[in-house]
Amino acid sequence: MERLKQTILAEGKVLSNTVLKVDAFLNHQIDPALMEEIGKEFADRFAAAGITKILTLESSGIAPAVMAGLVLKVPVVFARKRKSLTLTDHLYSAQVHSFTKQETNEISISQTFITQDDTVLIIDDFLANGQAVFGLIDILKQAKATIAGIGIVIEKSFQDGGKSIRNAGYRVESLARIAHLSDGNVTFLEEEN
Ligand code: G4P
Repeated sequence: MERLKQTILAEGKVLSNTVLKVDAFLNHQIDPALMEEIGKEFADRFAAAGITKILTLESSGIAPAVMAGLVLKVPVVFARKRKSLTLTDHLYSAQVHSFTKQETNEISISQTFITQDDTVLIIDDFLANGQAVFGLIDILKQAKATIAGIGIVIEKSFQDGGKSIRNAGYRVESLARIAHLSDGNVTFLEEEN
């Protein structure tokens, strides 16, 4: 998606060969117009998939997921990482280990909001090692929901997540795929082909 790539080039900061900071439009400050376009793009790509719900993970997945939900006219559920005062009973939960942060979180959703009748699109902001997405897939399997695919805003293709999820048979649509980060520069995958 061209506008997203231009925004990454203009406002992203390469912190190291593995980490891209996008606090200016996605992870801290949010650019609503860009999110709207991202939502439309996900909706277009999955228009024929019969989506009934979108599932994401708090916090940075929520903005792009809500915009896609607005266009597809379906509810958006976000998995919680922290214990909630009200989200206590009848949960689907999964363990998500972050190699980046070296921590494991239990993520949960209420069993009320996703059922075996749902066809679900997973949306997340970053795809690195894929642990968050595999946690969300685990939850959807517990719910016996149909998994239509995975929409990712920024995929770091030099890490294993994208390959593992595609190899597991899932459709992954990433709006920007980064081939590598080096010397402060971002190289997108297409530029290399
Ligand atoms: P994985 O789920 O693909 O295995 O990712 P990983 O554990 O490596 O990432 C853990 C957290 O770090 C996630 O955010 C993920 O979005 C974020 N992350 C991974 N690589 C990058 C990167 O290059 N740049 C930025 N900005 N973030 C990255 P999180 O903890 O869920 O945070 P949030 O959603 O609450 O913002």
